[in-house]
Amino acid sequence: TCAFAGQKKVLAAYEEAVKCGYSGARAGRLHTPHGVFDTPMFMPVGTQATVKAVSPRELKEMGAQIILSNTYHLYLRPGTELVAEAGGLHRFMDWDGGILTDSGGFQVFSLGPLRKITEEGAAFRSHIDGSTQFLSPEIAIKAQMNLGADIIMAFDECIPYPAEYQYAKLSTERTTRWAERSQKAHTRSGQALFAIVQGGMYQDLRRVSANDLVSLDFPGYGIGGLSVGEPKPVMYEMLEQTVPLLPENKPRYLMGVGTPDCLVEAVRYGIDMFDCVFPTRVARNGTAMTKSGRLVVKNAAYAKDFLPIDENCGCYACQNFSRAYIRHLLKADEIFGLRLTTIHNLYFLLDFTKKMRQAILEDRFLSFREEFLAQYCK
Ligand code: GUN
Ligand code: ZN
Repeated sequence: TCAFAGQKKVLAAYEEAVKCGYSGARAGRLHTPHGVFDTPMFMPVGTQATVKAVSPRELKEMGAQIILSNTYHLYLRPGTELVAEAGGLHRFMDWDGGILTDSGGFQVFSLGPLRKITEEGAAFRSHIDGSTQFLSPEIAIKAQMNLGADIIMAFDECIPYPAEYQYAKLSTERTTRWAERSQKAHTRSGQALFAIVQGGMYQDLRRVSANDLVSLDFPGYGIGGLSVGEPKPVMYEMLEQTVPLLPENKPRYLMGVGTPDCLVEAVRYGIDMFDCVFPTRVARNGTAMTKSGRLVVKNAAYAKDFLPIDENCGCYACQNFSRAYIRHLLKADEIFGLRLTTIHNLYFLLDFTKKMRQAILEDRFLSFREEFLAQYCK
């Protein structure tokens, strides 16, 4: 039964199920127009309106509930008006689960010298044809209204690491002004707009960013500018200080984080949502994720290994194929090899979030975390 039945419609409403009594960890549900999804959650990345190498049917089978797509890429190609004409992103790619689109802020800023930032927005060169392009809060929001995802993100600047204090301060204040402009530009109903906390690696800037964005009253909050090259303890420190400033009754999304050790730590501080290219990217590199760390299927050690990637895994790859077979496919450059490692890695990480959720529900999250970290090799 829905906790919000009969109430005024709250977009991307977070419904708490259980809060860990010994940490910030929490298990809940996120209500969207395309379903009610369990948190903590991992969102596979479908940059160009496809999660690389797998079909929507396979995604469903692996347990994916919501996926992420990128405004930057779809804005440049095929264009967001075309996607709107096709009936929106869900129809265009035939995915009827949840979709979150990132605003383009991160992709534009990772272009480095190809971009120029002003108060108005960011000018950049297209990675496709070198043409000059421009994104602003208004343009990024209009593009995301065209795409029609369930959750969209405010236009922000992901501050590079390291950054000087003065730059980080000016950039963070601008991101807050951009969040306000994003909010004004957003007029599509049935779609939730999340703001993004920045602040570089400066505790006081993180706190100001979180407090200012919270007073603008968004339905959810992303935490950006982390996992950009800083040591992991620095990221954990930022989370520990920032997450408690965010409203308890709204979802919190740590952007661009997707290794199991970071997930378990971030969940401990109260994060509900994650996305990352890591599982799909390393899969295409011949690397499988396991609870003890990375398994490089391509290694010669597995040439005659007829065990599955992970004997305890329920995925299609592990249920039917051996390391030796998958290694052979990868060595022979067969597409199916990449498909199998992708299926395994996504299943593994989705299953890992389910296990964390179960541990929270059963009031044993901290021991789950300790047991996991004790046998995980980074
Ligand atoms: N993905 C990972 N980090 C970020 C960030 O800081 N901003 C945005 N928009 N997306 C991200
Ligand atoms: Zn598997």
